[in-house]
Amino acid sequence: MTTKRIAITTGGGDAPGLNAVIRSIVLTSLNRGWECYGIREGYNGLLTPERFPEGGLIPLDRNSVRGITHLGGTILGTTNRGNPFSYPVPGEDGQMREVDRSDELVATLKEQGVDALIAIGGDGSMEIAHALSLKGVQVVGVPKTIDNDLDKTVITFGFDTAVSFTTECIDRLHSTAEAHRRIMVVEVMGRYAGWIALNAGVAATADAILIPEIPYDINKVAEKVMSRVRSGRDFSIIMVAEGARPEGGQLTVAGKEVGRAERLGGVGQKVCSALEEITGKEARVVVLGHLLRGGTPTSFDRLISLRFGAAAVRAIDEGQSGVMVALDPPTVRYVPLEQATRRMKVVPLDCDTILTARDLGISFGD
Ligand code: F6P
Repeated sequence: MTTKRIAITTGGGDAPGLNAVIRSIVLTSLNRGWECYGIREGYNGLLTPERFPEGGLIPLDRNSVRGITHLGGTILGTTNRGNPFSYPVPGEDGQMREVDRSDELVATLKEQGVDALIAIGGDGSMEIAHALSLKGVQVVGVPKTIDNDLDKTVITFGFDTAVSFTTECIDRLHSTAEAHRRIMVVEVMGRYAGWIALNAGVAATADAILIPEIPYDINKVAEKVMSRVRSGRDFSIIMVAEGARPEGGQLTVAGKEVGRAERLGGVGQKVCSALEEITGKEARVVVLGHLLRGGTPTSFDRLISLRFGAAAVRAIDEGQSGVMVALDPPTVRYVPLEQATRRMKVVPLDCDTILTARDLGISFGD
């Protein structure tokens, strides 16, 4: 059997389950007699090796992945501003600009004797993986994101953990909301998709759920709050996805930097202030933010992470490239990376969870 050298990269925002995927890839590779290496911080380990005194490409053996399945984060580190095709570098004027360093990356992978790459990440990482495959690198993608917005896979790992945590937080907020007769507005991540807000909002029985797919009318949300007051329920929980926006209004953007996607955040505070003003009731906002990305992956996320990692190595063994591992219950299959990144998976307005929420009397502010 020929020895293969596999390199693993984790890119974009971290998600619970990354370490489980890494462990699964390493053990599945070693069990085939192959070698496994981890690239530090996305592709930075190879593009800026001087920043990593211990090496930008580190060997991964059984010891390095022992006991990490249940750990959040990634032992390799990650970044969401290290796209080799538009790498941020300071210009002579001190301003950051984007430079294509992909050829350099492909050459370095060759120099290091890397035969195949497994790229674990979200839509941005899958686009990079696809572009690298077009440059001749054998690449298999593994879909990751708490946002669950990757098309062509039923679910991404990290999402279940984020939803479970959000559900627990809302459970906790119920008692304080009721004790103070307040409106509690809970803002969660998810970018341009409302999956986290929708699933956790229904599971934890929020009174209104505002998601990017359904622009809201704040007066309708206020009306929901007041109808609860009239029926003797003097508190409300309003779940808001960071990508939610009012009818005819804009997204709330927290920041934009060269070399990375815009950052969302802040809509929860806007909803909170507007509801206070319209209803005359006291309101508080809780932004769960990065808490959703931390902690121990749920058993569901661990299991799909382990399955995805092993399936990625099997794909390499079969000589596949330019594909992404995808969950298509009850199986894991492979889809062309090109298709996987073509469109974002947002919540369909006629999906069963939305219908269920409406049947339960939850408002979407529409
Ligand atoms: O894509 C995952 C995600 O957590 C989004 O939900 C969120 O908008 C974004 O990353 C936040 O990124 P950062 O960690 O760079 O603030």
